[in-house]
Amino acid sequence: MFAMNIDVRYGRRMLPGRRARTAFAVAAACTFVPTATAGAAACTDAAGKPWCDRTLSADARARALVADLTGDEKIRLLAGTHPGIRAGAIPGIPRLGVPIGYVDGSTVGSGQPVSADGRLGGKDPATQMPSGSLLAATFDPELARRAGATVGDESRRKGNVGILGPAADVMRVAYSGRAWESFGEDPDLNGAMAASWIKGAESAGVFTSLKHFAVNSQEGVGYGRPAVPLGLGVQGSRHLFNAIVSERALREIYLAPFEEAIREGRPGSVMCAYNRINGQYACAHRHLLADVLRGDWGYDGLVMSDWIAGAHPWDVVAHLRNGLDLEMPAASTYSGALIKPLLRLGVVRWPLIDDHVRRILRAEIDAGILDDPPSEKPIDVDAHDAVAREVAEGGLVLLRNTGVLPLRPGTRIAVLGPAARKSASGGGSGSVRPFRTVSVADALTARGNAVVDTTRDRARAAAVARTADVAVVVVRDYETEGADRACLTLRCPPDYGDQDALIEAVAAAQPKTVVVQETGAPVLTPWRDRVAGLLQAWYPGQSGGSAIASVLYGDVDPSGRLPMTFPVREADLPTAGSRLRYPGDAAQNVRYDEGVLVGYRWYDARGIQPAYPFGFGLSYTSFAFSDLAIDGTRVTFTVRNTGARRGAAVPQLYVGLPGGPPWQLRGFKKVWLDPGASETVTLTLTDRDLSSWDGGWKRAACAKVAVGASSRDLPLKGSTCP
Ligand code: BGC
Repeated sequence: MFAMNIDVRYGRRMLPGRRARTAFAVAAACTFVPTATAGAAACTDAAGKPWCDRTLSADARARALVADLTGDEKIRLLAGTHPGIRAGAIPGIPRLGVPIGYVDGSTVGSGQPVSADGRLGGKDPATQMPSGSLLAATFDPELARRAGATVGDESRRKGNVGILGPAADVMRVAYSGRAWESFGEDPDLNGAMAASWIKGAESAGVFTSLKHFAVNSQEGVGYGRPAVPLGLGVQGSRHLFNAIVSERALREIYLAPFEEAIREGRPGSVMCAYNRINGQYACAHRHLLADVLRGDWGYDGLVMSDWIAGAHPWDVVAHLRNGLDLEMPAASTYSGALIKPLLRLGVVRWPLIDDHVRRILRAEIDAGILDDPPSEKPIDVDAHDAVAREVAEGGLVLLRNTGVLPLRPGTRIAVLGPAARKSASGGGSGSVRPFRTVSVADALTARGNAVVDTTRDRARAAAVARTADVAVVVVRDYETEGADRACLTLRCPPDYGDQDALIEAVAAAQPKTVVVQETGAPVLTPWRDRVAGLLQAWYPGQSGGSAIASVLYGDVDPSGRLPMTFPVREADLPTAGSRLRYPGDAAQNVRYDEGVLVGYRWYDARGIQPAYPFGFGLSYTSFAFSDLAIDGTRVTFTVRNTGARRGAAVPQLYVGLPGGPPWQLRGFKKVWLDPGASETVTLTLTDRDLSSWDGGWKRAACAKVAVGASSRDLPLKGSTCP
């Protein structure tokens, strides 16, 4: 299989044009080895094998398989097996021709966490998509669907049956080491993006795993550096912390995106989280798994644990009874040694085990493991790269522009900053070793007239900046699974020096200084009034440099909007001011006593001015909003491009409910408009959009309604009151 990957990679990269395609096809044809299905025959005919009968539903086929399994086989299926180079694998049943089912990857790509030579952190190459935060910033569910289809296709072609994403964890803690992976601080945006991504990925023939269910808000204060594959959170560790959270905040904020993603996206699986919620671990949680997920939402798909210590042996009965189907990546809790005595004693019964096994097999059958067993196939790396770039272009957020942008052709540019030649990404299971990378320095140099100097020496950087017409300073943070960021300044990331001071020095020397900020989540921008431009680029993926250059030069309008608030100071964060709120007390309890005031809801309710608010982002043109009409639950308004260039508006619809946060996002649309053009947009509010949780969903008699360009720029206001 490695032979194939190497041929695919180098065959495409080294030879341009038609020769590349020929080399690719020949290499591929010669070197595919279907390791994913080794030792297992697919369903060739259904005689005597009802699970091979394609006229039956996946559920009926799974039931038929379960009926033919021995007790030992059933128990073996309850936990993962040795995955080789992948993150995990569902055991095969060689006797019945069911192949092993490999799973790995995330929304960032179909990476595999351990290299063939066993080096920790070495990965099989993949198309590195932009971070979840960038995808959210596109405010474009159709782009999320295409991103999902791309990663899903690549995953399938690497021989996987499932992909371990998307993450729909609402960002409560700005420091969270995984804030870059999910879709920001708003439940509606999270839910919409997750649902679309799932639809895209599953259309490619893999099941997705919506994660991390639930309230997986922090990794813990501890140690994380780019050189190590995983951070180690200690205080408030993801493996230990106990979220003490109200039912209202659960339903309205933390569970809402999962509910929407399950209803609209219908993921094949859900991954339960490591942490505790109100005293019980997520993967054993009676209320979350049995009452809400299986009960209220009627979800009958596969529930798998997060990796290593997601399930706990002492809680095996609760895991079995409350809804955990599959322990990953290996049996520690769902082992014969623990489960067989429980069966013998009648503490749990076989029908319960059968149910878990049925769900596991059905997810695999739905993803085609019997009809089209996953195997190695050629990957169209160029087509996937094009999607990665398009997504990146759609999620770059222009935060400041005094007129320096777009750059004019021929401008002499000094490309500065220790991150200019790097490709920024987060660490952990969401990291990917890219097929290729284009840094900002690569892309701007390719346009000509650029000098690059990655010095940390401020005086030298300032001197280089003076020689150019414009300075572009590329800065980055470092976020990693396993440990939270130590602070939100650009002085904090290990290995990059004091990037705030670098920006100040360059800006003092060159009035036309543009900062390109490759951070997965919010950072402080104390110098923002002293720079001419600021582009929030997130972790933009393998072709991020090209996308950034396109936006800086104005080939494409910057059409991203912030999916999370950028605060003025850390003391303004909703979790600031008390260790009990974050990172938690000595017993690892974390009090979510800000309730539903997460993200912009907090800043709005407390009247705190952010540096850049949720939903904000500039375009190279300007827009006007007018003609708000509210007819019951139908909200109609007009957006007009009042500038001289084609560009994208992202009108956002917010509601204010009695007793709730001032404003809550309930709809949005990205609208591309030529100069002078306008579009009438209609967004429809659902009953849920107008409801709050009060022992059950209670619909408000009427609600305030506002439409505008960000959570803090709402020129159109009305109400649904008759
Ligand atoms: C992460 C999951 C991931 C899994 C497998 C865990 O450490 O929390 O998000 O899917 O590893 O890579």
